Amino acid sequence: MTKRFYITTPIYYVNGAPHIGHAYTSIAADVLARFKRMDGYDVFFLTGTDEHGQKVEAAARAAGLDTQAYTDTISQDFRDMTDAMGVSYDDWIRTTEQRHKDSCAALWKKIEAAGDIYLGHYEGWYSVRDEAFYDEGELVTLPDGSKIAEKSKAPVEWVKEPSYFFRLSAWQDRLLEFYEQHPDFIAPTSRRNEILSFVKGGLNDLSVSRTTFNWGIPVPDAPGHVMYVWLDALTNYITAAGFPDTTAPRWDFWPADVHFVGKDIIRFHAVYWPAFLMAAGIAPPTRISSHGWWVVDGEKMSKSLGNVVEPRVLAKTFGLDQIRYFLLREKPFGADGSLNHQAIISRMNVELANDLGNLAQRSLSLIAKNLDGKLPARGDATPEDSALLDAANALPDIVRLHMDRQTFHEALEEIWKVIRSANGYIDRQAPWALRKTDPERMAVVLRVLVDTIRVVATLLQPFMPASIGRMMDQLGVAPDARSLADLAVPLADGLALPAPQGVFPRYVEPVA
Ligand code: MSP
Repeated sequence: MTKRFYITTPIYYVNGAPHIGHAYTSIAADVLARFKRMDGYDVFFLTGTDEHGQKVEAAARAAGLDTQAYTDTISQDFRDMTDAMGVSYDDWIRTTEQRHKDSCAALWKKIEAAGDIYLGHYEGWYSVRDEAFYDEGELVTLPDGSKIAEKSKAPVEWVKEPSYFFRLSAWQDRLLEFYEQHPDFIAPTSRRNEILSFVKGGLNDLSVSRTTFNWGIPVPDAPGHVMYVWLDALTNYITAAGFPDTTAPRWDFWPADVHFVGKDIIRFHAVYWPAFLMAAGIAPPTRISSHGWWVVDGEKMSKSLGNVVEPRVLAKTFGLDQIRYFLLREKPFGADGSLNHQAIISRMNVELANDLGNLAQRSLSLIAKNLDGKLPARGDATPEDSALLDAANALPDIVRLHMDRQTFHEALEEIWKVIRSANGYIDRQAPWALRKTDPERMAVVLRVLVDTIRVVATLLQPFMPASIGRMMDQLGVAPDARSLADLAVPLADGLALPAPQGVFPRYVEPVA
């Protein structure tokens, strides 16, 4: 039976245009989805847009548009951006779809039937920007007397309204027990510790309906109440798996294997979401993998600073695969990082064009020139040959481990270690000098190089699908034989290789 794997991105708020931070979460999820597919899994990869709530309603009003028409336009823009980033999702969910409204109503009823929802009155702080309720202790007071959330710096307002509550306080011990039994539930560890201490500090019941606006999913049998946007949004992950129809074929994918999230939204995913699900008798997801934020030249991206990075523009300037590579290589996944053009150019020119591109180009040109473009057979391996081949053959397992932990930059570093070793090898063996003196040895060396580059390229496909696809063509690897399992089958001796062409261009500053 094929192994199943379910991956999600957060669904994006449609209150403004997509930027590089959104593209980042989706590209990371895409790399894992592609890796799992090439490792033999049946993958379901979900992304989409989060369209309800006060924030979106206000943005539509500010744009002078009907709310649904506004969300249609922005959702489409997110989808176009996602497609432009080469993100291979299987389903695009929108929370304004009927299937999702049905799913939310069904989940609500299950939680209510379990006795975990009651009617009350909310009086306290709310931040529209974060769509989050805050305790006094989570706020700071500005000199003008207004208050903001300490962590996100978002303004808060005092709200007072009838509201349904979710009995979150009753879930504290069961959540702690769940974290204990599932040590890998929250990644990285620093975030896990943060969540543990938050839950240990005690949980208040959570307001899960609003009555002061109506852009949301109606609470069943409760006129005037719409669901709290986070209850609505989180439910998307089961909607797409077919909920409430648990006989739907996609329901077999639940529980999700990885929910990718930014560090700002871990609490919703690691505390509220498993509690909602457990209350409804549904299994919680397997893992919440969180990443840090990108800042631009050291500054937080914001409309007012005018430094918001449009992912499509960036990809046009440097190349899509170059950007995908950069985003996952530049910083550890869980950490924050700074985006700047010099750093992109350096990775693009040094690592992609020189280290990898030149290695392939040099090896393949020698085969084209000296061996009539025919792949030489494997020969007797010297210790140096074996050292390089062993390092290459050990890579798939090492990279798999990193992918399962979402330590993408370490996966790339391990791959680059082998690329650097291969560059050392080609320089020391100098196959170009063997053409006359020892053509047999030259052939063996070139075969060692092709076999090494093939492993490296196979593992890099999820990161840079288009460029590496071209490199695989150059290596003579058939399009239907590029999975990890295919590495066990050697390329045929004498295989005719196409004329080599560079795959990774250098970035040259355009002349003004
Ligand atoms: N709608 C909610 C998610 C609901 S999921 C059930 C939301 N949307 S968002 O559009 O504001 O953010 C979506 C994702 O983009 C989050 O994971 C967030 O961390 C990420 N990013 C937004 N800005 C970012 C950066 N500057 N850098 C990296 N990622 C950041 O939250």
